[in-house]
Amino acid sequence: MPLPATGAREAILGLFRQASEGFVSGARLSEALGVSRTAVWKQIRQLRQLGYRIEAIPSRGYRLCATPDLPLAEELHTGLSTRIIGKEIRYFTETDSTNRQAYALGEAGAGEGMIVIADRQSAGKGRLGRTWISPPGVNLYLSVLLRPPLPPYAAPQLTFLSALAVSRAIAAVTGLAPTHKWPNDVLLDGFKVAGLLNEMSAESDRIRFVVLGIGVNLNMTADQFPADLRAPATSLLLAGGRPVPRALFGRTLLEQLDSLYAEYLRHGPAPIMAAWEAHCDLVGKAVTVDEGSGTALRGTVVGIDRDGALLLTLADGSTERILAGDVRLLPENNQ
Ligand code: BTN
Repeated sequence: MPLPATGAREAILGLFRQASEGFVSGARLSEALGVSRTAVWKQIRQLRQLGYRIEAIPSRGYRLCATPDLPLAEELHTGLSTRIIGKEIRYFTETDSTNRQAYALGEAGAGEGMIVIADRQSAGKGRLGRTWISPPGVNLYLSVLLRPPLPPYAAPQLTFLSALAVSRAIAAVTGLAPTHKWPNDVLLDGFKVAGLLNEMSAESDRIRFVVLGIGVNLNMTADQFPADLRAPATSLLLAGGRPVPRALFGRTLLEQLDSLYAEYLRHGPAPIMAAWEAHCDLVGKAVTVDEGSGTALRGTVVGIDRDGALLLTLADGSTERILAGDVRLLPENNQ
């Protein structure tokens, strides 16, 4: 049976990468894929349209000369060793929001672990109705569909899981040391490098699905950040001085997500929360938290609880449990 299109292209790329001399004949490709030479040629043409540079020399065959820096399924699947996450990948050159697409696919019955990824988003969604700046060619915009067999109150725990996966992927690919900011930011030297937006569909007692939305600034340059950003932001390129291949980062992230999700399903949220908290430099700090009501609470961060709520000690000694809000560090932390 002929392979579906992405599978056929992945198989062709796999054969190119294995070829010791670089060249693979059209006959060999057609035999390995079980399709006609014309069908092989069509797939080669599509690979070229996606940005792969493929040389064709009569009597020798085809050779892969250059791979585009795109988070394509063909690239993410190369060497991917996950069990659940990223088995199915939907890639868009452009979409409004990968979260919106993944949510619609979730409602239509898409399977656990499916991911939606895009080169650019025209209406990238941030937290609290904000916009996520999503230019083409530089960053990672990814949404993962999960169907954990859990009650709705557990869903926020997955935000911490995705933050941990992002910071571990950053450390693995760049050697940089990110920190976590409650509830959903990953920072480098105090500058935001990644944001998370998790959205859920649920019944009263069970989650139908959760979409983990992840935006990571990989190769954005200083002039690509809007001047009026609410919080100071950076990219891995700006912080580490080197561009990061998007497919390599994407694959590393999918592997981190996959192993943390397996750990979460086996052992519950406690190990994830503890690992997240170990790289959260808010604990012990004086902060204000705006819960969206306009008035901000002022206190000292004690930590986060099992459900991911922020625990804050107020001036009167009482402890407040906060489920959502914007945290700001107070200047007295620097004295
Ligand atoms: C935030 O910090 O406000 C959350 C930002 C989340 C952005 C990502 S990019 C991929 C996914 N699709 C979206 O529309 N948003 C999330």
